[in-house]
Amino acid sequence: MRIAILGGTGRIGGHVLNWALDAGYPVTALARRPEALRQAALAQGGRRQEERGQAARDHEAPGREARGADALVAAALSPAAGLTVVRGDALDQTAVAEVIAGADAVISALGPRGAKTSGLLAGAASNIVSAMQQTGARRLICVSAAGAFITGDPDMSWLVRQILPRVFAKPFADVRRMEDVIRESGLDWTLVRATRLVNGPRTGQYRVSPYYPPRGGGKISRADVAHFIAAALTGDGWPRSAPALAY
Ligand SMILES: NC(=O)c1ccc[n+]([C@@H]2O[C@H](COP(=O)([O-])OP(=O)(O)OC[C@H]3O[C@@H](n4cnc5c(N)ncnc54)[C@H](OP(=O)(O)O)[C@@H]3O)[C@@H](O)[C@H]2O)c1
Repeated sequence: MRIAILGGTGRIGGHVLNWALDAGYPVTALARRPEALRQAALAQGGRRQEERGQAARDHEAPGREARGADALVAAALSPAAGLTVVRGDALDQTAVAEVIAGADAVISALGPRGAKTSGLLAGAASNIVSAMQQTGARRLICVSAAGAFITGDPDMSWLVRQILPRVFAKPFADVRRMEDVIRESGLDWTLVRATRLVNGPRTGQYRVSPYYPPRGGGKISRADVAHFIAAALTGDGWPRSAPALAY
């Protein structure tokens, strides 16, 4: 299975990327700054990745142009590690089509990173869906946010349901639009609704429930979100559904 990853320089995406490479899946990753992808892989991937990173530094040529598949990272992690990097932005349809070309499954762990302009998630989702519809790839797993649906959560207190949607009005609206685009795509999608993200370890011990977080659950580590994504991808779990994760 060939996997395309968007958001691989991010925290959830970095865990997913390293899992996929360690498991031996060929990966194509989109990165605005491919060098960040290498750093993420080095930081999280342990000695095996570190050795490959050193190999890249050994091969580094000053002033080398990096366009499309990035030469430097390709030297670092490909073909031995099976990683191809496409330099580009998720809002650029051409770059997204390039990263998805040849993929059997697509994972998006994009996040706006405090961007001033909203609409990253919905815009990227449109690009991903249209690229997948063109190539015929079916499986899409996308990180979403449970908080964006809190007003419908019967277990959430009235006060929280009033406050949170006001504080995060714009990012939550983007998340809901993203989900709408993906739901209407006809693909085999899974929308992974994370609760509050923390940087704890991967435990594999968390609760999952459809649509809304398990009662009393308010947080999940990024590493465990990646664990869930890996399990859903390899086990064909949660097709056309929006599971919410929490401890
Ligand atoms: N914070 C929470 O408590 C919480 C709760 C539930 C769900 N979530 C959701 O979880 C998701 C991911 O979280 P995270 O902590 O792993 O995110 P993160 O570490 O901030 O990573 C975001 C990723 O998106 C990439 N990205 C941003 N804009 C891009 C663009 N225009 N083109 C290409 N790549 C772009 C970043 O690339 P660069 O390296 O180039 O910046 C990075 O790889 C977010 O969607 C967020 O909404 C968050």
